[in-house]
Amino acid sequence: MKLVSIDEVDIKEKRVLIRTDFNTPLTKSGEIADDTRILAALPTIEYALKEKARVIIASHFGRPGGKLNPKLTLNPVGRKLSEILNCEVIFPNDCIGDGVKKLAGDLYPGGVMLLENLRFHRGEEDNDTRFAKRLAEIADIYVNEAFSVSHRLHASVVGILDYIEAACIGLRFKKEMENLTRLIENAEHPFVAIFGGRSASEKIPIMESFLDRVDTMLIGGVVSNTFLKALGKEVGRSVVDQIALYSAAKLISSASVRDIRVVLSEDAVLIRGDLSNYSNSFIGSYGEFPKDATSVDIGPKTMSDFALRISKAKTIFWNGPLGVYEAEDFRKGTIEIAKAISQSGAFSLAVGWDTVIAIKKEESSSGISYLSIGGKAALEFIQGKKLPALEALRKKLK
Ligand code: 3PG
Repeated sequence: MKLVSIDEVDIKEKRVLIRTDFNTPLTKSGEIADDTRILAALPTIEYALKEKARVIIASHFGRPGGKLNPKLTLNPVGRKLSEILNCEVIFPNDCIGDGVKKLAGDLYPGGVMLLENLRFHRGEEDNDTRFAKRLAEIADIYVNEAFSVSHRLHASVVGILDYIEAACIGLRFKKEMENLTRLIENAEHPFVAIFGGRSASEKIPIMESFLDRVDTMLIGGVVSNTFLKALGKEVGRSVVDQIALYSAAKLISSASVRDIRVVLSEDAVLIRGDLSNYSNSFIGSYGEFPKDATSVDIGPKTMSDFALRISKAKTIFWNGPLGVYEAEDFRKGTIEIAKAISQSGAFSLAVGWDTVIAIKKEESSSGISYLSIGGKAALEFIQGKKLPALEALRKKLK
């Protein structure tokens, strides 16, 4: 069912509550370290302002557990937003209550207010009726612009829909749905899925959900060590997810029954001792790793093998960096794969917060069709799981 988006609703001069996900990383000095999520919500906010709506923005920030925590105030986001929008952003010290209601009532058309962290109230995560009602009472129209929170049964994305007059989705929410749905419903073949990242226990259920869709799975990054170990290869001191060894072996045999090619890293950049010392690194082939070496990136043979397979794909899904991308020296594999995807001409989707952060600043990723900011919610959507916020929106908009 198609969800109504903000540009299909009359919002002129209305009080519009835009639920965003401004759960952004901060620098040590408390400033915004990455503005991806703020920029993603900008077209919706700017559209609402152009329509002279009275804009009220809500978000969670971190996990304060229902208690006020000054370290998790949305104040830095408010400052950033004010700078980007070049206008005053009213910032009350709460997200509900009489004071907030009054400020919302006084808001003029084209005015902006950012509410304080929703999770300072227990009622948010408990999907509490009273909290949802109090949030709903400050607006006429609710806009969900937080796809990445769709997997949470929280008041600001579920409960509120029972009390607000009208609801719709934001422009980025719509884009997210369109791209994820295209991957699920209209994938052209050959379909290549690339997996990296750290935890095999977390990745294997996602991989399993791709078994009936893809032609090839490329597995690199830390996660590949678990697969290689399951096949009896020497991986030195590389991180292995011991509890996932059995399911890794099972995934390989399930893929082979279905004629799906699972391609694992052939070689890796290895390091002995301290990760910060790049001059310590060398290339090694799987099966022949020195016992004291740790893999930190995919090696050159793996890079060119993966790139060749990527170049033949018509659809590409990518989740998880292929090396220790936080260290500039070990980001090469991830960047080269981003380049190969960009040049492939395939419909390509990168999903997962760490994946997007790892590649988004690189020119090389500019040809990737869509960088999802849906995080875990997007991965659950792709796996066909029911997302509480999406279900609630569908019910409301029926
Ligand atoms: C995220 O960062 O993935 C979203 O903001 C959801 O945050 P949560 O995992 O704390 O619910």
